[in-house]
Amino acid sequence: MADIRQAIMFDIPAIQVCDLLCFPEENRWDYHLYEEYIYFWPRLVYVAEDHGTGGIVGFVIAQMKGEGTESHGYIASLGVVPTHRKLRIAKKLMDAAQDALVKEYGSEYVSLHVRRSNQAAINLYTEKLGYNYEIATNFYENQEDAYVMQKQL
Ligand SMILES: CC(C)(COP(=O)(O)OP(=O)(O)OC[C@H]1O[C@@H](n2cnc3c(N)ncnc32)[C@H](O)[C@@H]1OP(=O)(O)O)[C@@H](O)C(=O)NCCC(=O)NCCS
Repeated sequence: MADIRQAIMFDIPAIQVCDLLCFPEENRWDYHLYEEYIYFWPRLVYVAEDHGTGGIVGFVIAQMKGEGTESHGYIASLGVVPTHRKLRIAKKLMDAAQDALVKEYGSEYVSLHVRRSNQAAINLYTEKLGYNYEIATNFYENQEDAYVMQKQL
């Protein structure tokens, strides 16, 4: 099992390892990008800490996007390491980020992008978290379509 807590700068190397295990095929984020998220949106970055080892086994990185009436929450990244999947850790990380978007930023809705081939994540967002979606064709670099997901908070 795992505890969800707000991330701190000290967690970045462990988040980078999780990210690599979760997204082996994607371009790596620069260290400073994680720093920027934690600096600008400290209450929107969460990690899951394994009860036994204390190691970080999952993360969610959210942010606010847009100005004025367009202002809304956005999920920039979410991952749970393969050894700890199907334990509802992603659901808990998403609940924490969504709660903070409402309480800290008054966000009325949240959006995200997910690859059309990513059935696990699509099920999580649509079946467990109540997101609606539309398709953005050829969204990714390899021309894969994205599901653009959105949910009222
Ligand atoms: C997608 C991901 C974050 C899910 O993490 P997780 O902690 O295993 O998810 P949860 O245990 O919270 O699952 C909640 C629900 O998601 C769906 N789900 C999760 N894994 C699934 C799978 N392998 N196949 C189908 N549905 C799945 C199910 O609806 C599940 O509910 P259930 O347990 O009642 O069946 C994880 O597989 C992952 O890190 N994948 C690689 C990175 C990634 O794709 N991130 C999202 C990018 S948008």
